[in-house]
Amino acid sequence: MAFKIGLLGLGTVGSGVAKILLDRQGRHPLLGEMEITRVGVRSPDKPRDVDLPQNIFTTDLEAIATDPAIDIVVELIGGTDRAYKLIMQAINHGKHVVTANKAVIARYGAEIFTAAKEKGVYVMIEAAVCGGIPVIQALKQALGANRIKSVMGIVNGTTNYILTRMHREGGDFEPILAEAQKLGYAEADPTADVDGLDAADKMAILASLAFGDRIKLEDIYCEGIRQITSTDIAFADEMGYVIKLLGIAQHTETARETALDIRVHPVMVPTSHALASIHGVTNAVRIEGEPIGELVLSGPGAGSGATASAVVADIINVVATLRANPSNINLTMGCTHQHYAKVQS
Ligand code: HSE
Repeated sequence: MAFKIGLLGLGTVGSGVAKILLDRQGRHPLLGEMEITRVGVRSPDKPRDVDLPQNIFTTDLEAIATDPAIDIVVELIGGTDRAYKLIMQAINHGKHVVTANKAVIARYGAEIFTAAKEKGVYVMIEAAVCGGIPVIQALKQALGANRIKSVMGIVNGTTNYILTRMHREGGDFEPILAEAQKLGYAEADPTADVDGLDAADKMAILASLAFGDRIKLEDIYCEGIRQITSTDIAFADEMGYVIKLLGIAQHTETARETALDIRVHPVMVPTSHALASIHGVTNAVRIEGEPIGELVLSGPGAGSGATASAVVADIINVVATLRANPSNINLTMGCTHQHYAKVQS
C-alpha cells in the first residue's frame, strides 16, 4: 500500500516536489510507494504546470493536516504562525511531517520535536537550511561520531549574489539589490535576506543540531549587508579579501568557561579561504569536527529543484524507516532527533 502524502502549498518548491513524485523513472525505488492524495492551495482553479487531478485540490489546509487517510504532511506554505499551527495539528493527528520552513523550526523547533517524540512521528527539516545541500543529514547522522567545533557558512544566496556582483562590478548595494529583485533573486521585501535574519534562522537550526543546545534567535548577533559600500569592496579587493555574509557558530573557551558564540555578519574573508570562492546564489557550509577535521559542503541553497530534492529525500527517509521498522517508530525517533530531544531533558 502506498504512503499517502498531503502537500500544503504548491508554489515553487511544492511544484518541484510534485514533479519529482510524478516522474519516478531512474530515481529512488521508494518513490513508487508514495502518492500525493491531497493538495492544499489558496486558488485551486489556478492553471499549473503540474499534472495532478483537480479533485485532490482544496483550500482547507487544516482538513489535510487532520485527515486520517494522510500519512505524511509536507508543509511548504512558508510564514510562521499558520505553518506552525498546521505542523502541530498534523503531529497531534499522528502524521509524519516534512517541512522546508526555517522560520518555524528556528522559533518552535524544540516544541515541535517534543510533540513529535510524544506522538512517535517524524519531523524532517533537510530543506529548511541551504536547499539542496544535505547539511542537516550531515550534522545529524553522517558526522555523528564527531565533536563539532564550529559550523560556518554562506547560508543566504541572495546576499551572496549581491556581494559577488558588488565585487565583480565595483557597484553599490542599492542598484544591485534593485536588479536582483527584477531578476527574481531577491524578494520584493528583501529585509529577511539583506538584514541577515534568514541566515540567523538557518544558523539557529544548524547550531542546535551541532551543539545540542536550544538556541534563541535573540541570542544570535545579527548584522546584514546594507551598509557595505563600493569603497569597502574596493579596499577588500586591494588587500586580498572578499566580503561575505557569514553565519558562524562555535565554542569559545576562556580559562573559566566554555560558551557558544553564534553570529551573522559581513566578514573579510581571505581569497585563499574555501568560502571565498563561493559565488552568486550558491551556499556553502564549513564544518569542523573532531576527529574528522574540516570539510566544506557547497551547492544550490534555494530554488525549486534544489529544495524539492531535499524535501523528497526527507519523504524517502521517512518511508524507508517505516518500511524497515514499522513497529518501532518511537525508539528510532529518540535517536534521530537526539539533539532536540536533549534540549527538553
Ligand atoms: N532567501 C533565501 C536565500 C532562500 O536567499 O538564500 C532560501 O532559504
